[in-house]
Amino acid sequence: MVISAIAPQPIYRKDYQPSAYLIHTTELSFDLRENETIVSSKIHFYKNPKCLTNDNTLFLNGIDLELISIVIEGDQPNYELQDEGLQLYQLNDEFVLELVNRIHPEVNTSLNGLYQSSGNFCTQCEAHGFRQITYYLDRPDVLSVFTTHIIADKDKYPVLLSNGNLTKTSAGKVTWHDPTSKPCYLFALVAGDFAVLEDSYTTISGREVALKIYVEHHNINKTGFAMDSLKRSFAWDESRFNLEYDLDIYMIVAVDDFNMGAMENKGLNIFNSTFVLADPKTATDKDFINVEAVIGHEYFHNWTGNRVTCQDWFQLSLKEGLTVFRDQEFTSDLHARSIKRIEDVNALRTFQFAEDAGPMKHPVRPESYIEMNNFYTLTVYEKGAEVIRMIHSFLGEAGFQKGMKLYFERHDGDAVTIDDFVASMSDANDFDFKPFMTWYSCSGTPSVSISSNYNEKEQSLQVVVKQLGEHCYFWPLNYALFSEQGKKIKQGMLTVDQKQQEFVLTGVTSKPIASWLREFSAPIKLVTELTVVQKIVLVGCEEDAFSIWDNAQQIWLSMILTPDKVNEMNFFNALEKFINTTTDKSLVSKVLTLPSERLLHQQVKVIDVFKIQQQREAVIQKILNRFESLLLATYQSLINTDVYELTPEAVGNRSLKNTCLYYLSQAGHLQLVNEQFNQANCMTDQIAAFNALLSCKNSYQAQAKEVFYQTYKDDVQVMDKFFAAQSTAKLTTVEDIERLMTHELFSFNTPNRLRSVVGGFTQNYINFHHQAGYEFFTDIILKLNKSNPQIGARLVSVYNHWRRFTPELKALQKQQLERIMQTKDLSSDIFEIVQAALKP
Ligand code: BES
Ligand code: ZN
Repeated sequence: MVISAIAPQPIYRKDYQPSAYLIHTTELSFDLRENETIVSSKIHFYKNPKCLTNDNTLFLNGIDLELISIVIEGDQPNYELQDEGLQLYQLNDEFVLELVNRIHPEVNTSLNGLYQSSGNFCTQCEAHGFRQITYYLDRPDVLSVFTTHIIADKDKYPVLLSNGNLTKTSAGKVTWHDPTSKPCYLFALVAGDFAVLEDSYTTISGREVALKIYVEHHNINKTGFAMDSLKRSFAWDESRFNLEYDLDIYMIVAVDDFNMGAMENKGLNIFNSTFVLADPKTATDKDFINVEAVIGHEYFHNWTGNRVTCQDWFQLSLKEGLTVFRDQEFTSDLHARSIKRIEDVNALRTFQFAEDAGPMKHPVRPESYIEMNNFYTLTVYEKGAEVIRMIHSFLGEAGFQKGMKLYFERHDGDAVTIDDFVASMSDANDFDFKPFMTWYSCSGTPSVSISSNYNEKEQSLQVVVKQLGEHCYFWPLNYALFSEQGKKIKQGMLTVDQKQQEFVLTGVTSKPIASWLREFSAPIKLVTELTVVQKIVLVGCEEDAFSIWDNAQQIWLSMILTPDKVNEMNFFNALEKFINTTTDKSLVSKVLTLPSERLLHQQVKVIDVFKIQQQREAVIQKILNRFESLLLATYQSLINTDVYELTPEAVGNRSLKNTCLYYLSQAGHLQLVNEQFNQANCMTDQIAAFNALLSCKNSYQAQAKEVFYQTYKDDVQVMDKFFAAQSTAKLTTVEDIERLMTHELFSFNTPNRLRSVVGGFTQNYINFHHQAGYEFFTDIILKLNKSNPQIGARLVSVYNHWRRFTPELKALQKQQLERIMQTKDLSSDIFEIVQAALKP
């Protein structure tokens, strides 16, 4: 390919060098106008005392900036403008640089740097957005104290916000000062017309913190849950981690146009409005729990990310993996721990394991990147959190907290590495994590087999654990042994640290059925010798909900992929007993839910989307043949008129009820589905019914669509669901999607809406996977290449697994990838994904 001359180049972790200059203070002034924004900056640089070079030059990052003036201590410096920044020469050891530059937020569709959403101004600076605002050392290891002046039309933009404390205010002009030193990726500015929900939180040491949530006026009555979540986040971090908030004010702003979920800017979080706005009429149970989790996540970053930040972006999991672990624990402590674990593991296996098996696979700490935005991945986040979870398993809660305490004592205010974190854990506990570091340096999901031999005379079980891949990992193996009658004999944790290892478990009083990897104690693929019959016993006797669900999932997998090999009668008998005797309705719902098509695609050598869907549907039919009346009775027993609550019981009831409803819809009980659609008192029930009505041809569908639209057309969050329900419905074709894209509420430049229509359609396997589907999709990628390459790169990853499809689809996807590769002016974001996908 001719690309090489202009191909974007990778950046390597091994090339890290501290900056020759650091920054004391940064004073920014924004003059926000209709057709341009003028940014003035005054940056106080000084030579890095830890950097021994005599280099008196400095390169400042800057992209799409128009330089208006540049002065150092009254004089024009020796400088050169380059493609991606500004090169300064002949500098003193300390100097103040004064710059003025022009930017155009009003036409910025990349949603990085300063841009507009619904007419309001906001920023997104992580990872490299600050360089789209002004020339700067745009790297996380350069920390500075920021003062920000904002000038704007007071009628259009009555609310003017930045990090820290408001120190001066007059109509149309304000000054904010953030006393904590921070890297520029945590900078934020907001200007607009917002309503605000105000509250306060008194910290454990008695300081009062003002809490403010800013939203568009019409959304103000959907902010209560977010505020309560924020207070729960403050309280939880105090009680579980002994961490207190540091500033006097904590602000959250919700915007409709946002590439990601939310951003932890110091004292001024900016959120995708999806993760702020929630009430029972418009948000599902899952939405509520997500809002709370994201609010928690961004809040928890204040310590794990902001006060202790990353030395370089290769260390991203230092803050993200750790903070995901913390938000998972937050949700687990507040809701149903076992269900949360099942959901997290299911997501890990469905998405992260796929990433780890594809062309973009990388270690939790990557060695190189072309475009950093492509490395906010499931591996860095979710596998990163699993790695922290294993550290927690080895040390226990008390040991883990001792490690956290030492980490903050050593590094508060610093930019550090993953090694620094692990060293704190090691030193605080006198525990050697050296053999553990492969989890950070190797990519791919470890494969493990376990076999065992019972010695009746010795009453012992000899266990052989084999790590089948090239690397040796160090991990905790949780287990329990049950008798054939299902009585627990013993349980414990083994530490695996060799490629092949033998353990002898004693006191095993009868021939056991072993339940390995309880609670999914390590992120691996495990092959055991368990027979279906033994798995069925475990479904009946395990106390660990994850293991119950996992054994059921494995049986479903076998039933779908190798139907001849499973005696379904045995399983169905056990299942019936399980349904009738289990009080945890969420767990019953999970056990009754088949593995997704997406997960099934990973289990086969060649992906045949048609065959997989058929095989999965055949099992749905088997379930209905056996359980239709039980599902109906269960459904009816769960109908109630209770007021909406988010307790585990209420959530579990709705979850099981709607799982039953889905099966019943597949058996033709559409009147019942339609009744639920019309009578639902919460979005959880209504959207479940709506999705079921769209899943097959029926006489209720057209009216349901119209009613749903008329009821919710003014609600952005519900309209995203409305679009997603249609794009993912089995009957929806490319033509239908093209028609949806001409809908008056469709908006190409709003990522949430684009994801709900186009992202949804890529998961609609039968209708997406053919030539017309691919051509339509590639056209969208090429449009995004210009308007929002970050979103384009995320979407184009759909083609990553092209090699594994049936020959015809494989060839068609390859053609599309080549078509993208031949496009001129390909963004580094999309280039990186596509070239990896095509790499032989
Ligand atoms: N720091 C990230 C947001 C971010 C991601 C900014 C990528 C720039 C590029 C934030 O803390 C985050 O991780 N948000 C998640 C949600 C979270 C609950 C996992 C997100 O936005 O998806
Ligand atoms: Zn985060």
